[in-house]
Amino acid sequence: MREIRLIKGGTVVTAGETYQADVAIDGGRIVALGHSLDAPAGATIDARGAYVIPGGIDVHTHLDTFFGGTTSCDNYRSGTVAAAAGGTTSIIDYGLQAKGQRLTEVAESWVAKGKGNSVIDWGIHVMIGEMNDGVLADIGTLVEQGITSFKVFLAYKGAVMIDDWTLFRTLLRAKEVGALVMAHCENGDVLDVLVRQALAAGQTEPKYHASTRPEEAEAEATNRFLTLAGLAGVPAYVVHLSCAPALEEVRRAQARGQMVWAETCPQYLFTSQEDIEKPGFEGAKYVFSPPPRDKRNWEAIWSGLASGALATVASDHCPFRFADQKTLGSDNFSKIPNGGPGIEDRVGLLYHYGAVNGRLTLNRWVDVCSTQAAKIFGMFPRKGAIVVGADADLVVWDPKTERTLSAVTQKSAIDYHLYEGFKISGQARDVLVRGATVFENGEFVGEYGHGQFVKRNKVLS
Ligand code: URP
Ligand code: ZN
Ligand code: ZN
Repeated sequence: MREIRLIKGGTVVTAGETYQADVAIDGGRIVALGHSLDAPAGATIDARGAYVIPGGIDVHTHLDTFFGGTTSCDNYRSGTVAAAAGGTTSIIDYGLQAKGQRLTEVAESWVAKGKGNSVIDWGIHVMIGEMNDGVLADIGTLVEQGITSFKVFLAYKGAVMIDDWTLFRTLLRAKEVGALVMAHCENGDVLDVLVRQALAAGQTEPKYHASTRPEEAEAEATNRFLTLAGLAGVPAYVVHLSCAPALEEVRRAQARGQMVWAETCPQYLFTSQEDIEKPGFEGAKYVFSPPPRDKRNWEAIWSGLASGALATVASDHCPFRFADQKTLGSDNFSKIPNGGPGIEDRVGLLYHYGAVNGRLTLNRWVDVCSTQAAKIFGMFPRKGAIVVGADADLVVWDPKTERTLSAVTQKSAIDYHLYEGFKISGQARDVLVRGATVFENGEFVGEYGHGQFVKRNKVLS
């Protein structure tokens, strides 16, 4: 595609700077930044009064994924339209391995899911659920193909959980090939005992999902993962960190000098134990793992984001309908599919409650929603930056719009909103993916299949 476009008169906000500039785009890339730039008539987007930011990057999504006995209800069409509506222009989705499946097959099937469907760019992290010679070989093959991060689960015993032997061998292999290992940190053996005890005592309601997944079990697994990563001498990435004790473990590893990054998610800033304790089956909407925590953790997570101890905010978007998917566990909380929505409003929630409410600077908002992810996962400066030569993944962000979040107006295929009724300011007005407008004034104007698979660089350690 060769089409000169100009975003004119906006305030450019990046992870490092805030300044007035026009942004010129050609061939899907940024070709100039400056003042009083010109473009042909009709090719100019008026950004006066708005911010121009690098498109959001959500590095934790589960689209069209079989998990917990059912398939997440957003596919690469509805899920990426929802992402773009909220100002996200790239995702890294999890390719989950079925038992015995080659990792290369997982990757192929996840590339195929996006092709012809995704409206934004996507990469893949491939999960490792077992260890053998084929897995070791495939890790090397995939890194050469631009899939440079691998996910392990230390929870979900009997399903996707791995043991320490598999974890440690994965870490050592990652070191050989320059890959990044990411972990879901909860002690799955301990949780298994607690869940069995609860069910034996007749405790079957959704709220017991939270009480059987204590903070200590998350902190222990975080410590174990980071200790073993230190022993192997590799960088490590902790996904969906939810509580202060786990954050403390991250801080300790960082203080030891390890290259360690951690991610949190909006649900650990805006939902709490009180939500999962709602009467009836309502609490099932909040069954995700780690679970919603006591509100006292919110402050710790915000300060971790502000200080840099927490690097990124991803969504862990794993949506299951309330009407006919969460109900798989209507008489047993352990059968409720784990996961919730979040791809659509991640950037907006962090803008309103972070940047507007003074918990994050505007630059740090951009950093946690976009730039850090690009750097950690080998996409910078092609993504996550506004510099000449970068992909023109850009969002014109209207800081003044006031809106109310609701299941009725969202683009995702899910039938509830985790933040129903929240009133927030700011909205993605124009969303460009490699120079092509995907959303304009809240309307989808993109093309299914415009998104491209992103090959990523190795981890620098
Ligand atoms: O509850 C969650 N988070 N579901 C998605 C899978 C995972 O653990 O990331
Ligand atoms: Zn997880
Ligand atoms: Zn997840």
